[in-house]
Amino acid sequence: MTVLVTGGAGYIGSHMVWRLLDAGEKVVVVDRLSTGFDWAVPSEANLVIGDIGDQTFVEELLRSNEIRSVFHFAGSIVVPESVSDPLGYYLNNTVNSRSLIAACVQSGVQEFVFSSTAAVYGTPDAMDPVSETASLRPESPYGNSKLMTEMMLRDVSAAHPMHHACLRYFNVAGADPLGRTGQSTQNATHLIKVATQTALSKRPDMQVFGSDYPTPDGTCVRDYIHVSDLVEAHYLALQHMRTEKQNLTANCGYGHGHSVLEVIDMVKRVSGSDFPVAVSPRRPGDAVSIVANADLLKNQLNWQPRYDDLELIVKHALRWEDTLDRRNNI
Ligand code: UFG
Repeated sequence: MTVLVTGGAGYIGSHMVWRLLDAGEKVVVVDRLSTGFDWAVPSEANLVIGDIGDQTFVEELLRSNEIRSVFHFAGSIVVPESVSDPLGYYLNNTVNSRSLIAACVQSGVQEFVFSSTAAVYGTPDAMDPVSETASLRPESPYGNSKLMTEMMLRDVSAAHPMHHACLRYFNVAGADPLGRTGQSTQNATHLIKVATQTALSKRPDMQVFGSDYPTPDGTCVRDYIHVSDLVEAHYLALQHMRTEKQNLTANCGYGHGHSVLEVIDMVKRVSGSDFPVAVSPRRPGDAVSIVANADLLKNQLNWQPRYDDLELIVKHALRWEDTLDRRNNI
C-alpha cells in the first residue's frame, strides 16, 4: 500500500513524509513547488511535480501507484493574504480540494486525512480551551475555505466508501528533532519563525502586534504545538481509520497557551540574543486567545505528545533556521 502526501515539499507535509518513511510506509508526494522545495522531500519518497487541481492527472497518479490513503496538506495558509485574495484561497483550498477528493473517490482511496485549522472556530466566546463541538464561525476566507472542505469530506464519506479525518491545527511550530526538515517558507509571517530569524540577524527587528489585550501581559495567547507531535496525530488518525473504519474531527494543540511576549522571551533566552522588539498596533483579525481542548485526540487516539515544551519547540526551530541558509541558499 502506498500513501500520497499532497504538499509534501512544504513545512508540515515534509515532516509527515519523514514520519511515514520512518514507519516503513511507501510514499508518493505531489507538490507543484509554489512554496515548497524539492530538496525538502527525502529521496526515499517519490516526488511528482504537479497540481492537485488537475483531476485527470491525480486519478492517473492514484491508480498507477495503487494509493489507498491520502494526506492533504497542499494549500494556502496566510490569513491576511486570504482577506486580500479571497478567490485565490477558494481556488487553492476549496476548488482544488474538491478536484482531489473527486479523484480519490474515483480511484477507490479508503482514507483521507485533511489539514484543517483552528480558524474554523473564529473568535471563541470565552478564553477557555475550544472543543470540537464549539460553534464554527470562521472570520476569514482562509477559515471559510478550510471549513468548506471539511463539509465536502463529511458529505463524501456519507455517500462513498472513503473515511476522513479533519485535523484542526492550532499554532504549529518547531522542526524535526533529528534536523531533517523544518519551516523553510520564504517571507513567513508566523511568530516563532519571525522571532528565530530576528535572533539570527536575518531581520533587523520584529514587532509585537498589540500589547493592550485583556491577557496577563497584554499580548495574544496561542497554543503552540510541535510539528512532530502534530504529524504523529496524523499517523494515529490514519491507523484509526484503517482499523476502526470511522471518521474523525479533532483539535491538534496541547491545551495551554503562551503569550507573544513569553514566546519572544523564550527565543531570546534560547538564542542568547537580545534582539530589538517594538510594540506596534494590533494586527487586524487577531483573536485575543485561542487554545485547544485536546481531550478528543488523547482519549480517542491515545495521542501522547512528546514535545509539549516551548523551550524545546524554540530550540528545534532555531536550529533549523540556523542551518537553512546553508541548505537552501536563501
Ligand atoms: N505576532 C506578532 N509579531 C509577529 C508575528 C505574529 O506579534 O511578527 C503575533 C500575532 O499578532 C498573534 C500571534 O503572534 O497574536 C500568533 O501569530 P501567528 O501569525 O504566528 O499565527 P496566528 O495565530 O495568526 O495563525 C495561526 C495559523 C493559522 C491558523 C491560526 C488558528 O498561522 O493558519 O493560527 O488559530 F488559522
